This record gives sequence, C-alpha cells and structure tokens, in this order.
Amino acid sequence: MTRRDDFSKAYLTSIMHPLLAGSLLLVDSDSWLHQRKLMLPAFHRERLDVYAAVMADEAERACATWAPGQHRDIHSDMMRMTLQIVTRTLFGIDFSNAVGVAERLVSTVMDEFNRRIASPVRLRFPVPSIRTLRLFRSMRELDVIAYQAIRARRTNPQPDLLSMLVQSRDQDGRPMSDREVRDACLAVFFAGHETTACLLSWTWYVLARHEDVQTKILAELSRVHTGPGESPAALVQRLPYTQAVLNEVLRLYPPAYAFGRRALRTTTVGNHAVPAGTTVLMSPWAMHRDGRFFDNPEKFQPERWEDGLASRLPKFAFFPFSSGPRRCIGSSYAMMEATIAIATILPRFKLSSRVVVEAAPSITLRPAGGMPLTVASRN
Ligand code: HEM
Repeated sequence: MTRRDDFSKAYLTSIMHPLLAGSLLLVDSDSWLHQRKLMLPAFHRERLDVYAAVMADEAERACATWAPGQHRDIHSDMMRMTLQIVTRTLFGIDFSNAVGVAERLVSTVMDEFNRRIASPVRLRFPVPSIRTLRLFRSMRELDVIAYQAIRARRTNPQPDLLSMLVQSRDQDGRPMSDREVRDACLAVFFAGHETTACLLSWTWYVLARHEDVQTKILAELSRVHTGPGESPAALVQRLPYTQAVLNEVLRLYPPAYAFGRRALRTTTVGNHAVPAGTTVLMSPWAMHRDGRFFDNPEKFQPERWEDGLASRLPKFAFFPFSSGPRRCIGSSYAMMEATIAIATILPRFKLSSRVVVEAAPSITLRPAGGMPLTVASRN
C-alpha cells in the first residue's frame, strides 16, 4: 500500500499470457486506472439491483433438477450457475443452450493456467505441445464468442458492461479496440466466475455440516420482507447473520487464497529487504487462520462476526477481496450473488455431508474432487 510503485502485478503475465495480457487484472499502468474507472459504474448499487433478477433466475435453474436424496457434485452446479450469471449480467450472453460448450472451453483454459501455476518453469511463450494446441483452440473459440458479442454491441448497445466498454472514449477521444474490449471482458469473466463458485461451494459444505446454521439462516430469511420496491442489493445489509456466515466461509476458505506482486526494484516490506525481481505473496488463507487475530481460528464460528469484529481487525488481517486501489471490483456483486443463491436454494433444499472435503489450491481454492453433498427437499 505504501510502496506501490516498487511492485508490479505483471508476475502473472508469464502464466496468463496471451489470454489476458492487456487486461485490468494484470496491467499496472495508467491503462489499469482507465479500465477500472470505465468499469466501476457496472458495479454500482443501481446496476446490482438490475442483476439481482438474473441471479435469482439462475439460482432457481441451478437447483431445478435436484432430486431428494440425491448425491451431487454441487461445485459443478455452482460453476455452471456463476458462469451463466456473469455472462448474462455483464455481457448479455446467455449460454442456456450451449452451457456445456462454454464450460468445456473455460475449463480447458483454467486447467492449463493451473498447470502453469504449479510448474516451477516459467516460459513467456509456451512450447508447442498437445496441451498448448488445445489451449489455443479453446481460446480461439472463446474469441469467436467474444468478438461476435462486441460487434453486436457496436451496432446495438444494451445497458451492460460490454456496451459501456464499446462506447467508451479515452482522453484523446479514442474508442477501445475490439482486442482491448475482449481483454477487459475476459479478465472480468475469469476473475468473477470460479471465485464466486468456490465461495458458494464451500458455503454449502459448511452448511451441510452445521444443520443449526441452516436453521438460523432460514429464520433470518423468513423475518426479512423481500417484496416489490425493495432493493435486492440492500437485502445484503438486512441479512446480518447470512453475511456473518459468508464472512466466516471467506475467512476459512478464501477463494483467492494467495496473490502476489513482483518487486521492480530493491525495496523493503516492514523490516524485510526485498531484492529486485522477488515475488512477494500475500496469503488470506494464512492470515485468516492466525490466532493473533481470531480466537479458535480453525473453528467455523459465524457468530464471531456479529459484534463488529470486522471493524476492530487490523486492515490486512481479513482481506478476502484484498484492499486499497486494486481491491476486487466485484466484491459487492459476489456477496449479493452468494446471498441470492442462498436465499433461493436453502428454503427448498436441506444439504448434508458425511465426507471431509480437502481444499485443492489452484488459481482459486477449489474443493478437491468437487463438492459431493446430499440434497433433501424441505417440502
Ligand atoms: C468471492 C468472490 C471473489 C473473490 C474472493 C475475489 C477476490 C479478489 C482479489 C483478492 C482481488 C485482488 C487480486 C490482486 O490484487 O492481486 C480481486 C481483483 C479483481 N476482481 Fe475479484 N473476487 C471475487 C469476485 C469477483 C467478481 C464477481 C468479479 C466481477 C464480476 C471480480 C472482478 C475482479 C477484477 C476485475 C479484479 C481486478 C481489479 C483491479 O486490479 O483493479 N471479482 N478479486
């Protein structure tokens, strides 16, 4: 925060290149600030209110095929739901009829990134291999979808993020090129899709293991009126216990469990000397389980958030969405999406689990082997 100019976010470029090379997620310069300012209105409260209907619709669709007594991989359901929500709300693209294709393309790209993150070798340009060919083929197919949507918005603007980017002008009156719009959209897509799916999968997991918490959320939901004229974005503030549960899940299973910067020059962090070129990692996972800040840190205990703990903690003791100017742009969007999914699905289904699911740290904190849960109808 105090030596921002000494660090670069481009440490990920060697992994993400060339998918997201010029995008908000990775660039450091004025271009980042320009893109961030352009995108902010798409995450304002009034826009979130508009997205709420799509979020509720997709949450209903996600549980429409659940059968009582069924064992399901809820993580697949959440991945599909968050994919549809982000593409419908921000880009006006509905994959209802081809969601399998979209999932295949996205998972090919994510799997390749995960492999590169785990690999000790960092090559700026990947060597040709079957995997690289598959990655490039998937990226080409994603590009066809993205460029089609961009062209459609240039002729027929809609009230969404894609149209805002297409219609924007920089200080010199220059519009963004199709490539720039595509980079920006893919960055938002990849930042917002799997992260929120992981938050929800871990939430269902802890709920499945704590029936009393399911009961308390249901009691809170039944007390809150959600009629016409109520702002869905404001609903989040009116469900403090549900927010405490989500905070506790973000504490124990932060989807962005570690992120980093590369030192551009020799500098310091606290009392530590940091030579130029060093990658410095910050880990919400490690901080969130630190007994200096959280009593009984390994225990799932949503009540700990109910007496204003968040405002008493030092700034970087709890930072699932990071902090400062590069804080997650989609944090309110994600919290609303998760709240709406819980409010839609939990009154219909009770979840239970007998298995222990381990975390599989990849780009996000995925559940290892999916999230196998049992669902039972409440009727
Ligand atoms: C639970 C869900 C989410 C979590 C835990 C999360 C976490 C984070 C974190 C920790 C960062 C900062 C990373 C860094 O500085 O290296 C970040 C940045 C970002 N997030 Fe999220 N995110 C979530 C959901 C979303 C959603 C739903 C969207 C959009 C729809 C989104 C869009 C972005 C973007 C565009 C950035 C880059 C911001 C910038 O550099 O100015 N995120 N996110």
